[in-house]
Amino acid sequence: MSQTASTGYDAHLRVWRGDAAGGGLTDYTVEVNEGEVVLDVVHRLQATQAPDLAVRWNCKAGKCGSCSAEINGRPRLMCMTRMSVFARDETLTITPMRTFPVVRDLVTDVEFNYTKAREIPSFAAPEGLGPGEYRMRQEDVARSQEFRKCIECFLCQDVCHVVRDHEENKEAFAGPRFLMRMAELDMHPLDEAERRGLDRARAVAEEHGLGLCNVTKCCTEVCPESIRITDNALIPMKERAADRRHDPLVWLGSRIRRRGRGD
Ligand code: SF4
Ligand code: SF4
Ligand code: FES
Repeated sequence: MSQTASTGYDAHLRVWRGDAAGGGLTDYTVEVNEGEVVLDVVHRLQATQAPDLAVRWNCKAGKCGSCSAEINGRPRLMCMTRMSVFARDETLTITPMRTFPVVRDLVTDVEFNYTKAREIPSFAAPEGLGPGEYRMRQEDVARSQEFRKCIECFLCQDVCHVVRDHEENKEAFAGPRFLMRMAELDMHPLDEAERRGLDRARAVAEEHGLGLCNVTKCCTEVCPESIRITDNALIPMKERAADRRHDPLVWLGSRIRRRGRGD
């Protein structure tokens, strides 16, 4: 016996089915109940009509970053997209993230992102300070706190036009998520990378393609954590890279002054 509420309706979905060899959109009609999100409806499709449909998910709470896909062409988390944001007679086209190679159906191979993550030199902890002895100003803590909300859904990487339609740029461009990570490390008052011969701002510009970003802010618009990637990470990073290129002594002086204040 159906438990469907009287508010339920049938939605028209067009779902990309296929694998690396090719595929296409398949039409389905799937029941929707009050309060459901797109992932609920995709799961119902899987349970009732398409048991072999591949879809990646874990938390269903917007925290694991697994259920990324494109809904009517916009990168979104399926578990955080309410069906109520669409008109009931609207066709929902659900496709895998376009920037990454398809494994099967809605599942993509996001290895590109892990490769980029491995290329970033990690935090260079201050010598002579042990765990629990780090001291930072609250404003510096708050700044990196925003970047650390990232759930690695890679929607920003997916939407960025530098790589979305340009496979050839992938080698030279880390993408917004990782440019942001490099900005976070460069802004960290205790990072001692430069004392060990690594100029992060120069590296992000010359080795990770910061110059290819033309601050369209598309990455910021799709971020489910509302991280202000462009304003708070990419633009400041561009300024820091320019400062260092044009006047490395001013930059060095600012680092020494900050240390002198005990930051
Ligand atoms: S702001 Fe830069 S990194 Fe973000 S989507 Fe636009 S070009 Fe890509
Ligand atoms: S910065 Fe935002 S959009 Fe990009 S991977 Fe992190 S949470 Fe996802
Ligand atoms: S299932 Fe975890 S973010 Fe959607």
